[in-house]
Amino acid sequence: MKLVKTKDGSFTIFSEVAGEHYHTVSGAVEEAFEKHVNALGIENGMHILDFCFGLGYNSIAACKDHANLQIIGLENDIKIIEAMKDIEIPEILKTEFAPFRNIAENLDVTDNNNNRIQILLGDALQKVDELPENIFDRVFFDPFSPKKQPEMWSEDIFQKIYNKMKNGAKLSTYSCAKQIRKNMTSAGFKVMDGPVVGRKSPATIAVKM
Ligand SMILES: C[S@@+](CC[C@H](N)C(=O)[O-])C[C@H]1O[C@@H](n2cnc3c(N)ncnc32)[C@H](O)[C@@H]1O
Repeated sequence: MKLVKTKDGSFTIFSEVAGEHYHTVSGAVEEAFEKHVNALGIENGMHILDFCFGLGYNSIAACKDHANLQIIGLENDIKIIEAMKDIEIPEILKTEFAPFRNIAENLDVTDNNNNRIQILLGDALQKVDELPENIFDRVFFDPFSPKKQPEMWSEDIFQKIYNKMKNGAKLSTYSCAKQIRKNMTSAGFKVMDGPVVGRKSPATIAVKM
């Protein structure tokens, strides 16, 4: 597993299989806050789906200054979750990250603020079918790129996720590719620009109407 230090001091991983970094090299933890958590806005008690959990940065950034979150993370690689145990975390997320470092042991951890993260290990394309309908307030959608993993960005998968979300719930992702936005729109989402972070183009926010 090749660790790479990003510009905000946090680490990402380079996936040999996907040929891509897990995060933007401009700042992995910054990306979690700016493209996902702050872009969507988090309130105490929300239900969150972290679609492609990885090192859990997005979920754990959501836990900062929040309580009673119910987070489900979908991830198919236990090795990446095990890597959370020893990874160096920048000051801004150190306290929040600590309780979840050993989450690989039983895939279900609750911190002192009653934020619970449960990981469903397996192929997200199938695991999504196990989730209840109309439950999620926020979705962090973070697979590898559409070029590398086109199956993750299909209309069909957006439709399934849409069905799992409450009315008015929001999804964030880093891609603004035309076809991806078209697939989201066909699934029923209203699509808008997200913030510009670490690249020239904006991220995407999709709202269940
Ligand atoms: C771009 S990284 C996500 C980074 C992550 N959000 C974080 O904060 O570290 C993509 C993640 O998706 C996982 N993944 C790839 N294909 C998957 C699949 N079919 N089902 C579930 N997870 C998958 C990879 O193992 C990797 O951890």
